[in-house]
Amino acid sequence: EKEGYEHFMIKEIHEQPKGVSETLLRRLDKEEKVTLDGIKLTKEDLDNINKVYIVACGTAYHAGLVGRYAIEKFAKIPVEVDVASEFRYRDPFVDDKTLFIAISQSGETLDTLAALREAKRKGARVLSVVNVVGSSVARESDDVFYTWAGPEIAVASTKAYTTQLVAMYLVALHMASVKGTITEEQYKEKVNELKTMPDKIQKILDNQTKIQHLADGQFNNEKVFFMGRGLDVHVAHEGSLKLKEISYINSFAIAAGELKHGTIALIEDGTLVVALATQDHLYDKMLSNIQEVRARGAFVVGVAKEGNKEIEKTADVVLYIPDTLDQLTPILSVIPLQLLSYYIAVARGCDVDKPKNLAKSVTVE
Ligand code: M6R
Repeated sequence: EKEGYEHFMIKEIHEQPKGVSETLLRRLDKEEKVTLDGIKLTKEDLDNINKVYIVACGTAYHAGLVGRYAIEKFAKIPVEVDVASEFRYRDPFVDDKTLFIAISQSGETLDTLAALREAKRKGARVLSVVNVVGSSVARESDDVFYTWAGPEIAVASTKAYTTQLVAMYLVALHMASVKGTITEEQYKEKVNELKTMPDKIQKILDNQTKIQHLADGQFNNEKVFFMGRGLDVHVAHEGSLKLKEISYINSFAIAAGELKHGTIALIEDGTLVVALATQDHLYDKMLSNIQEVRARGAFVVGVAKEGNKEIEKTADVVLYIPDTLDQLTPILSVIPLQLLSYYIAVARGCDVDKPKNLAKSVTVE
């Protein structure tokens, strides 16, 4: 079943161009408009919504953070994002004017399911973004947006994440077009750019020798930091989770602007810092943050868009992603981080597909 790959995780990483393309193309009609088919998000529905709540766990939660950005940016609706285990116990402000979005690969995560039931009880409409057809979350939702990642076997979620991102962008763009908060031209620009994602992901996958080489370790891997600004922070969190769960390295993610407020105290000679710098308006700020950690001895791996070469002067190694709209970078920037985690875990001899203490879906509290 691994089709020649050594692990399910690396096979699933390579299945992302296909999963992203399926998730996307099934939701675009002949005129290249997002069609949500049966999903009820008409003008009337949206006029009745004054708030969106996105709730999920782990990687799906990280996809929700990007979803918040997209819905707020494109559709101009306020969004809150919460981890399901917090949401369900904190009596959140949810009523019949709330759209509740649950994100779950398996559709069986107990906390997510319980949060969904709580939101429903309070009158919210429930839309879920789910990979497994007919799963509990899907069955209990008013509407379902299925991701087309195909079965995900490895505990570390990869293709589920990128397809969840696509789903969230499509929901956000659809809402924006229905509400008229985005021009036709902007809408087309984003849809067209989304369509280039499968090829761009493939390009990163075809050039992974640098990452493999890196993973063989020129750094002190007792602890690893991921940092970024804007959308990059969310990807930093996802990269960090991936690394810790499969390689057992103590890894953290922070908003780079927070460095000086504490974390920089932990930087030592050779500490690996993965610095995401894909956002044009935050690029210079990230370069200064990279300088700050390097001055304290960090070994910095930068992630930047092709063409933004200035980072080479400050980072030790730079991993490039193909150029794209800043608003869509997470679909690409997560790929080198998935690969880096995978190769580090393999180099450390870890059981990549079945890391200790973890289950693929968490159906208990
Ligand atoms: O099936 P779900 O998407 O609801 O699962 C949520 C998390 O348990 C899951 O994403 C977990 O964090 C992964 N092991 C991350 O790689």
